[in-house]
Amino acid sequence: MIKRRDFLKQLFAAGAVLGGGTLTGACSGITRADLPEDNTSEQSPPMLDPTGRHILYYASLAPSGHNSQPWRVRIEAATTWIVEANGDRRLPCVDPDNRELLLSIGAFAENLFLAAGALGRHADIEVIANSSHDRDILRVVLRSGQANGDPLNLLATRRTVKHGHLPKEISANDVAALSHQAGGGLFYFPRTSSHAACIRDAAVESFRIQAARDDAQRELVHWLRLKNRDAMHHRDGLTPEGMEIRGMANWFVRHFVSPDDFMKTDFRRKGVDVTAQLAREGGGWMVMTSSGDNVADLIGTGRRFQRMALAARARNIGIHPMTQVLEEKTGRSAIAGNHNRHFFPQFVLRVGYLDHYPKPVSLRRPVEWFVTS
Ligand SMILES: Cc1cc2nc3c(=O)[nH]c(=O)nc-3n(C[C@H](O)[C@H](O)[C@H](O)COP(=O)(O)O)c2cc1C
Repeated sequence: MIKRRDFLKQLFAAGAVLGGGTLTGACSGITRADLPEDNTSEQSPPMLDPTGRHILYYASLAPSGHNSQPWRVRIEAATTWIVEANGDRRLPCVDPDNRELLLSIGAFAENLFLAAGALGRHADIEVIANSSHDRDILRVVLRSGQANGDPLNLLATRRTVKHGHLPKEISANDVAALSHQAGGGLFYFPRTSSHAACIRDAAVESFRIQAARDDAQRELVHWLRLKNRDAMHHRDGLTPEGMEIRGMANWFVRHFVSPDDFMKTDFRRKGVDVTAQLAREGGGWMVMTSSGDNVADLIGTGRRFQRMALAARARNIGIHPMTQVLEEKTGRSAIAGNHNRHFFPQFVLRVGYLDHYPKPVSLRRPVEWFVTS
């Protein structure tokens, strides 16, 4: 009889090649499309008018490490909100200094700003935290304003994309447009350049180092939502769809794998193999830097990142952050080692054109779950 482990290996291998088609459709789990429209819940948010709720819904579509959604919003008055870091949603093993948490809150702030503008409000956003471990991070004051552009569709359709990056360099025009949105500090290394090879090797090696760390792997396990029931209960974390586990492997993982199985050597090895494969694909790498690393620098960089990611979405360019290289010491020195002390790499990204930009699949908590008064 075939052993469960061997069966699993075969299914994972099948999933890697099955990419799309009817099997994937028939076997998919919960995705964003299965959530109620605008992600409503029965609870009513305190002191929020429908526009305020709408703004926070779009803000919550921001990316975050492990989809931890580390934000909470305290409503002080209908037009004055405090964005807090939710300490229960930190990633202490891989992000002990809250660097990624603040980048994620920065992306949330940018979505909030853009959604407010689209809905006829102006959001003044001020960084009020002094230290990266403070709870209160931003003060948001909403004023009435002119409806200004309509980025809502972009906010709703951006996602992280790992598979399907085409082996084609990003054009100079597109690099310039992304760099403009990023406000500078964005460096592109085309796929065949020697720098790209260095970044790729460092990214895969850092992934391997981290996959061998029990504490980091345990933290990942904490954010896995493999069963549809768990995914709907938490509406955060990493679902099989979010991790882009496809085909039969997706079905198998949802039905027969428990998060704890990800602690096993086979699973860790498979993760490294898939990552090494993905790292060879696509149009190259981008590194986004900041000139400082205090709270305001990190919030600002999260905002710049999100603007850049939305511009990438508009151009059918997939973005895949590979953050282990900034979390593990050897990776960090490979990326920043030869640069001066005012060069802070904050994002390392695989980038590539896509034939087809897939629909977002990662889940989000309803506004009512992260708003307090
Ligand atoms: C600071 C930060 C770090 C991230 N690091 C990784 C990473 O190392 N690997 C990865 O696959 N995705 C990474 N992501 C993407 C998140 O997993 C993703 O944003 C989250 O699951 C929500 O999915 P979405 O971007 O499709 O909305 C990162 C995102 C942020 C904001």
